[in-house]
Amino acid sequence: MQLLDGKATSESIKKELAQAVKNRKEQGKKIPHLAAILVGTDGGSMTYVNAKVKACDQIGFESTLIRYDDSVPEEILLAKVQSLNEDKSIDGFIVQLPLPGHIDEMKITQAIDPLKDVDGFHPVNLGNMVLNLPGFLPATPAGIVELIKRNGIETEGKNCVVIGRSNIVGMPLSIMLARNTNPGNCTVTLTHSRTKNLEEICSNADILISAIGRPGFVKADMVKEGAVVIDVGTTRVSDTSRARGWRLRGDVDFENVSKKASFITPVPGGVGPMTIASLMINTLRAMELKGK
Ligand code: GUN
Repeated sequence: MQLLDGKATSESIKKELAQAVKNRKEQGKKIPHLAAILVGTDGGSMTYVNAKVKACDQIGFESTLIRYDDSVPEEILLAKVQSLNEDKSIDGFIVQLPLPGHIDEMKITQAIDPLKDVDGFHPVNLGNMVLNLPGFLPATPAGIVELIKRNGIETEGKNCVVIGRSNIVGMPLSIMLARNTNPGNCTVTLTHSRTKNLEEICSNADILISAIGRPGFVKADMVKEGAVVIDVGTTRVSDTSRARGWRLRGDVDFENVSKKASFITPVPGGVGPMTIASLMINTLRAMELKGK
């Protein structure tokens, strides 16, 4: 078994980006500027947004964090999105999801200028992805594809099973891996809560990717000997041995599945850091696309 070390891979990407920033500075060019909107105090969302801001610092990007209380009205958030769309100093921005129940996430996403949508969630960017046209790819699926690529994993003709059909991970990932690209050209099965015979389908996968947020859901008997296993789950579970009282747990029963897998991502340190690296790649591109 070989560990798919997303932390190490993301560090190499961040080094490349830091070099690109350094080159730009030397040429007197603008430095990328990412803004992030965070609503409320959800622990997971705060951790992710802080990690995004930290990555900007590390690479040399500018960053702006905009925070709102849980009770922020939708109109205020929409007005902020509009002002970020118009702000020439901001190259790209994200609205961290999930949003509180009284806010329509799709309405917010659709209000973002597709040219600044570095999360790749806007329908225009998702449409471009489906058609293999230039645009911003959603950060988590793009990070997974990059992890596969940089670790030399062959995907062509492979059976790939994705568990979970969310708009931000499972659905776009299933399309990206089926496209006529490299990595890509997989035969993809997208499974979900209504799938019958899930265990049997998973046990035929050469590449198995789980994105459902159910700790330990993928058991060793669902995994083929030698499969590549990618775990997108990051659920906080109670852990009294830690001072903070919790730890992150993935969808995969790592201890047992790692004995059968050829490659496997750890949690934490697998897909999470790759999501952040992809967001940074998209932010640099957002600036370059404008010819800045
Ligand atoms: N919530 C979970 N993953 C993501 C992500 O990649 N971007 C945003 N904006 N919210 C998320």
